[in-house]
Amino acid sequence: MVAPVADLNGAIVVVAGAGGGGIGTYSCEAALAAGAEVVAVERSPEELDKLDALPRPVVKVQADLTAPDAPAAVVQTALDAHGRIDGLINVAGGTSIDDFGPLVDIDSQGWDRVMANNLRYVAFLNRAVARAMIDAGTGGAMVNISSVSSLASQPFLAAYGAAKAGINSLTRTMAVEWGGHGIRVNAIAPGTITTPRAGDEESPDAAKRAIPLGRRGHAAEIAAAAVFLLSPQASYVTGQVLAVDGGMSVKLAMLGDDNAPVFVTKPEVRTRMLGTESP
Ligand SMILES: NC(=O)c1ccc[n+]([C@@H]2O[C@H](COP(=O)([O-])OP(=O)(O)OC[C@H]3O[C@@H](n4cnc5c(N)ncnc54)[C@H](O)[C@@H]3O)[C@@H](O)[C@H]2O)c1
Repeated sequence: MVAPVADLNGAIVVVAGAGGGGIGTYSCEAALAAGAEVVAVERSPEELDKLDALPRPVVKVQADLTAPDAPAAVVQTALDAHGRIDGLINVAGGTSIDDFGPLVDIDSQGWDRVMANNLRYVAFLNRAVARAMIDAGTGGAMVNISSVSSLASQPFLAAYGAAKAGINSLTRTMAVEWGGHGIRVNAIAPGTITTPRAGDEESPDAAKRAIPLGRRGHAAEIAAAAVFLLSPQASYVTGQVLAVDGGMSVKLAMLGDDNAPVFVTKPEVRTRMLGTESP
C-alpha cells in the first residue's frame, strides 16, 4: 500500500519566517493540511497576526531570528506547547534593495547583515532544534530554503549567493553529523517565485526564455516540496539540495530562445538540431 505523498499527521513543525504571505505562510498551510501542528516564528507582529487566517490555529512566536537568544526561545516555546519538535522549515531570509550592488562596493556591514539573516541564524536554529531532537531521541527532519542563486554565479548580489551556497554546505554537513540520530536535513533551491515580497516583475516573455517550464513558480509549489521532504515519505532522503525552479538551473546560458546553442550559426546544423518542430 502506497502512503499519501506527504503525511505529517501529529508532527510538530516549526516554520521560521512564517509571515509575508509567501513561502513561509504557504509552508504553514501545507504542513497543517498534511496533519501537523505548527509553531510559527516571525519578526513582524502584523505578519504574525495575519496567521490567524490559517485553517487551524498555530503557536505564534514573535522573534527576530538573528538575535542571539532567538533559537533557544523558539525551541523552548515549541517544547512548552507540544513537548517535542519533529520538523523545522527555515524560510526567513532574502534581500532588500540595499543589498544589491557591485561586489567591489559592498561594505562589511551590508555583508554581515545578509549573512546574519540568510546563513548564521540557519546554523544556530538548526543546531538548537537538533539538540532538542537528540535529547528526545526521536529523530526528525529539517528543510532549509536556499535559492538558485547558490547554484551558479549571482552578480550584484554576491553576499546573498554566498550565504545561500553556505546553506547548501551546512545542509550536507548537518545531514552527515546528525544522520546517526535519525535527523534528516535537506535544502530547497527555489527559482523565481511569485510572492507578495518578490512580486512578479519580469515579463511573461522573459520568464518563457529563462525557465524551461515557461513561467514563474508559486509559493505553494515550494511549500509542497518542503512538506514532502519533512514527511516519512522522504525517509531515505538527506543532505540534498532540491532545485524547485521550473528547470531554470539546468538551462545553460549558452542556449537561445529556441534552446539551440547561440554559437551554432551554420544554417544546416541549426536545421538538423531543431528539425521542423522548432519552438
Ligand atoms: N521569492 C523568491 O523568488 C525566492 C527565490 C529563491 C529563494 N527565496 C528564499 O525563500 C525565502 C522566502 O522568500 P519569500 O519571498 O517568501 O520571503 P518573505 O520576505 O515573504 O519572508 C518570509 C517572512 O520571513 C520573515 N523574516 C525575515 N527575516 C526574519 C528574521 N530575521 N526573523 C524573523 N522573521 C524574519 C519576514 O518578516 C517575512 O514575513 C527566503 O529565504 C528567500 O531567500 C525566495
